[in-house]
Amino acid sequence: MRRGHCVGVGNGTDALFLALLALGVGPGDEVITAANSFVATAEAITMTGATPVFIDCDPNRYTLDLNQVENALTSRAPRVKAIVPVHLYGLLVDMPRLMDLARKAGVKVLEDAAQAHDARSEEGAAGSFGDMAAFSFYPGKNLGAFGDGGAVVTRDAELAEQVRKLANHGRVGKSDHVLSGHNSRLDTLQAAVLSVKLRHLPAWSESRRALTRRYVERLAGAATGWSLRRCPRGGNTSSTSMSHAAKTGTDCDSSSRTGRSPVACTTPSACRCSPR
Ligand SMILES: Cc1ncc(COP(=O)(O)O)c(C=O)c1O
Repeated sequence: MRRGHCVGVGNGTDALFLALLALGVGPGDEVITAANSFVATAEAITMTGATPVFIDCDPNRYTLDLNQVENALTSRAPRVKAIVPVHLYGLLVDMPRLMDLARKAGVKVLEDAAQAHDARSEEGAAGSFGDMAAFSFYPGKNLGAFGDGGAVVTRDAELAEQVRKLANHGRVGKSDHVLSGHNSRLDTLQAAVLSVKLRHLPAWSESRRALTRRYVERLAGAATGWSLRRCPRGGNTSSTSMSHAAKTGTDCDSSSRTGRSPVACTTPSACRCSPR
């Protein structure tokens, strides 16, 4: 990951929460995020006192619909302080366009890459676009510890230092505490497990891609009456939750058989492939 700084924290939710605090998000602010994420994304926003603004997903990408984001940035200015795009199902949000929208609106971007270790688009890897990015190492993740863990990455040394302080009781020296922080350190044993598993991540990601290609080939040939959607360009080069990717495709396409709009199954209430 070509980011300057990586700060280990207690879990992915705290990674999001502490990063938002470091970005200055707090009560009275609004934060745009995906309606179809795991609940922790919204929780991290409400933990700061800010209000989540939910945006539905693009039915082809299954990640944030950027036309709706653009509208919300205009209609809700100046309340929106940040955007938290969520990379899901191995598919990245269209980050170059999102960053462009965010820069024009003067808002910060925190990538939720909790499910996106080693997921890539043609433009780069998950976590390498925004002002900051958050990862989870929950055991079920593509890079999972033996217990909870998380990390914040950023190129900004001051933001990294702020997260380091916030995660460790505001501490800068043995008995020197400069702000009211939290206790959310990455456990040393989990860090040791992760440092060993990290070496295997590229091979495991490749194995997921190979399995997905197999699912796609075999399911496309099966007499199910369902057709699989193609991933957007670059999407099939990513790694995360490939079973989710296949599931999402079949779920959304089956909706056309039942008469439901494909978009309907992308909303949290109707979607049967909600992430975790
Ligand atoms: C998209 C997303 N964001 C955030 C989180 C929170 O991570 P953690 O469970 O490590 O707190 C998860 C975990 O499942 C997730 O899937």
